[in-house]
Amino acid sequence: MPAARRTLFVTTALPYANGPFHIGHIMEYIQADIWVRFQRMRGAEVHFVCADDTHGAPIMLKAEGEGITPEQLIERVGASHREDWARYLISFDTTHSTHSPENTELAQSIYRALRDRTPSLIESRTIEQFYDPVKGMFLPDRYIKGECPKCGAKDQYGDACENCGSTYAPTDLRNPTSAITGATPELRSSEHLFFRLSAPEVVAFLRRWTATPAEGQSLQPEVYNKVREWLGDGKLSDWDISRDAPYFGIPVPDAKGKYFYVWLDAPIGYLAALKKHFDSGAARRAYPHETRTFDEFLADPSVEQYHFIGKDIVYFHTLFWPATLHFSGRKTPTNVFVHGFITASGEKMSKSRGTGVSPQKYLALGMNPEWLRYYIAAKLNDRVEDIDFNPDDFVARVNSDLVGKYVNIASRAAPFLSKHFDGHLAKDDGQRARWWSTLAGDAADDIGAALDGREFGKAIRRVMELADHINRYFDEKQPWLLAKDPSQRDALHRVCSDCIVGFRNLSVFLSPILPATTRKAADFLGLGRPLGWADLDADLTRIGHYEHLMTRIDPKQIDALLAPEPAPASPAASPRRRRGAPAAPVAPGGTISIDDFAKVDLRIARIVAAEHVDGADKLLKLTLDLGDGRPRTVFAGIKSAYDPATLVGRLTPMVANLAPRKMKFGLSEGMILAASGEGPGIYLLAPDAGAEPGMRVK
Ligand code: 2FM
Ligand code: ZN
Repeated sequence: MPAARRTLFVTTALPYANGPFHIGHIMEYIQADIWVRFQRMRGAEVHFVCADDTHGAPIMLKAEGEGITPEQLIERVGASHREDWARYLISFDTTHSTHSPENTELAQSIYRALRDRTPSLIESRTIEQFYDPVKGMFLPDRYIKGECPKCGAKDQYGDACENCGSTYAPTDLRNPTSAITGATPELRSSEHLFFRLSAPEVVAFLRRWTATPAEGQSLQPEVYNKVREWLGDGKLSDWDISRDAPYFGIPVPDAKGKYFYVWLDAPIGYLAALKKHFDSGAARRAYPHETRTFDEFLADPSVEQYHFIGKDIVYFHTLFWPATLHFSGRKTPTNVFVHGFITASGEKMSKSRGTGVSPQKYLALGMNPEWLRYYIAAKLNDRVEDIDFNPDDFVARVNSDLVGKYVNIASRAAPFLSKHFDGHLAKDDGQRARWWSTLAGDAADDIGAALDGREFGKAIRRVMELADHINRYFDEKQPWLLAKDPSQRDALHRVCSDCIVGFRNLSVFLSPILPATTRKAADFLGLGRPLGWADLDADLTRIGHYEHLMTRIDPKQIDALLAPEPAPASPAASPRRRRGAPAAPVAPGGTISIDDFAKVDLRIARIVAAEHVDGADKLLKLTLDLGDGRPRTVFAGIKSAYDPATLVGRLTPMVANLAPRKMKFGLSEGMILAASGEGPGIYLLAPDAGAEPGMRVK
């Protein structure tokens, strides 16, 4: 192993296990994944982990609202998260959950270390806290709404302001109301545990850490300025880290009925995921020379620890988190990399309110996840700037840059090599390196530096400049004319070989952004393995048969993506609406193509549970088994026709790849098929004997 090999522990923010991803999550995963894939290509040892953030009152209350346990909710949402990470090609090495033995053990031992220091950094205080007299519980911060005490923004949650980023106690909010019942909350006493962030040693440490998190590192300037504002005159508020039962969380040791506030155990989930990664042997399998235990690895000063996060959670990651780690005797992060939000055509999308382009719908429409990876990468830089998803820009960049420039090089040059030279590239006498060096100059270094520095937009601009140069070279040399003149055979061979080598080099640069397309390109280039940075200097001898690497975006897909969803009051599961609303777009003649039909993943499902839904006139809640061990919940509008007890055990076809839809009564993860006419009857479809759950219907 080379002495200077970097060893990295990288995370993204842990998503709440209360719903499917929105585009903001996907942007962060794409950003971190590109960086990680680049570091791996450069030979670094990278351990890239994530976990679901499962605790807290919102998850507890949501599960209660759906009539399931929090464990069932987080399992269901966790499965959808894992599926989306895979579909967007996010290369986490290990994913885990904050509701895990590792996290419980780590959170409790970190707490004990803070408590048992001299002087102790944990203090117990009786506080006045909002209590919902209608619901009969102390109100979690995010279930109190009111006006921000700092900037006056309306409709802000009780712990932090989405407008100005400041954090505060819920009792500081102006005109508070309970978001659960609308009641005006009452103040009642309760004993809480506080992390003494105001202690002079903590403030002094945070001043040092925020100025230089690690040797040679600094926070992004915007982040540093914000943190300095918060640190202000050196007086931070102590941090309330406990919550009263009922609460879904980790019990505080030696404090009956108290649980850790979710934000105490959430970042500890980074360590829990890494612990699982090491304890399960996954780290060792990826890097056989990695013999350190989890504790040794985490404590090693040469290991760099980076957290990718959004700008809304900077306070937690630059103040609470380093202090928690440092004062419990642990190593602090090397740095945090903060990004802005993503807007859609200028409209704000909010993490907690979940609006905007749906990543699930995007995939359900058959859109290529690498188009989005490329587009988001093209917009990203190392600053905390918001980026905008603009549909026209998206289509233009993918179709003209990626397909029209990059893929175009291979699709133009390869047929000449295949037809006239049996796929062999011309022997190189050094000419090709000279050609490349004249054309590209320092591009490889520049692109490497830009990718390392999270300046992905800059890297892509450089790659596209090179693609322009290569296409221009092809145009100038006119291989289609050379091919007609036998005396120009060598020139034809050389020009097309140069272009294929240029294409190979662009593929190397684009590998972290387009892992699947460049893997196909590597196969076409005869490598049979993913491209590495070292391939830039490697000889290339023969290409395989060229098959088109990427299709263009059909603007109709964008229209469908951005079309408003039907009103949720008409459930996805309603058989009537289903008949009139085919999943695939209807062609002008009223027909759809077989390809359109193939997009609908119809499967046989067994109804394993069926129940009435409180407050729903038309719906039954069905639990369906698709034979894959992951039960799906579907709300179907068949209550008028079926007694739930008669449905259990029946087989019926189900649309299995319908984007999950949030309904008033919970998440519906597909639809079942039933027939209906003008009259009142609804008739569930059933397969012939012999069909099994999971079988495809086609
Ligand atoms: O803001 C969020 O979505 C949190 N679930 C992020 C947690 S990051 C880490 F601390 F776990
Ligand atoms: Zn504010």
